[in-house]
Amino acid sequence: MRITCTIQETRERLAEAKAAGKKIGFVPTMGYLHEGHARLVEVAGKHCDFVVVSIFVNPTQFAPGEDLSTYPRDAERDEALLKKVGCQLLFRPDEKEMYPTPSLTRIELPELASQLCGKSRPTHFQGVATVVAKLLHIVQPEFAFFGMKDGQQLAIVKRMVEDLNFPVQIIGVPTVREEDGLAKSSRNVYLNEHQRQTAPQIYQALLKGKAAIEAGETDPNRVRQIIYSHLQDQPELRIDYVEVVRLSDLQPAAQIEGDIMLAVAVYLGKARLIDNLQLHVK
Ligand code: PAJ
Repeated sequence: MRITCTIQETRERLAEAKAAGKKIGFVPTMGYLHEGHARLVEVAGKHCDFVVVSIFVNPTQFAPGEDLSTYPRDAERDEALLKKVGCQLLFRPDEKEMYPTPSLTRIELPELASQLCGKSRPTHFQGVATVVAKLLHIVQPEFAFFGMKDGQQLAIVKRMVEDLNFPVQIIGVPTVREEDGLAKSSRNVYLNEHQRQTAPQIYQALLKGKAAIEAGETDPNRVRQIIYSHLQDQPELRIDYVEVVRLSDLQPAAQIEGDIMLAVAVYLGKARLIDNLQLHVK
């Protein structure tokens, strides 16, 4: 595995790979990698023969007061994990390399970015879309892989790529979970033991919503209520939102039909945790 820190060297390594006829797959991350990230790299390895991973804790997607300065980092462990799962090139720029001067260009998808997490993190997805656009321009992969765990992020990246004709195919990869159902997340380290025991209730709540739909419930408000009241029964959890939205535009679903997402965000101790289930209802 090669490691690059500059855009120029990254482009040189990629030019060599492309000249050798390699198909490039790309997995952008913020590091502190876990099995969820590893799965993205493995799936990338099935689609492509040269897998590039980036690790960059992007400051522009954190608002003042969020966890930028305390975001967990472990460069050595990340490197060892990536070697094991078949990453060929790790691009690990610092902030100066990515933002030598403050970016005056921003990519906004207001209709999608103002929903769900956008309500409590109003500038977050502008930072995400802009840095993903930069990274896609640096790497120029044929495929890029994003987790369904961050359902809104995936929807936004897919739409940006479609609207702006980026020559890349975005692949969504199913959420990797702990044995008790908690979605793997770099932020799970913020949980103390007791909070960690409560956290799987987020997935349990989503499963209850799904079960209601499978039993024939067609009213999104009823489904939302079922998820909400399960979460409300957990005294330690503070609910940020529970929503039932259409996957295409993230607007509240008027009916349970087509591609929908049951999406939840909660505060648990110091952590803000998100999870979702994406369903196709006939
Ligand atoms: P990060 O939180 O490090 O996540 C990197 C990628 O891993 C994202 O596509 C995310 O959805 C995926 N991922 C995280 N947990 C997962 C899980 N349990 N199962 C499957 N996939 C999972 O998301 C970001 O970084 C940043 O916003 C980024 C896209 C890199 C832009 O800065």
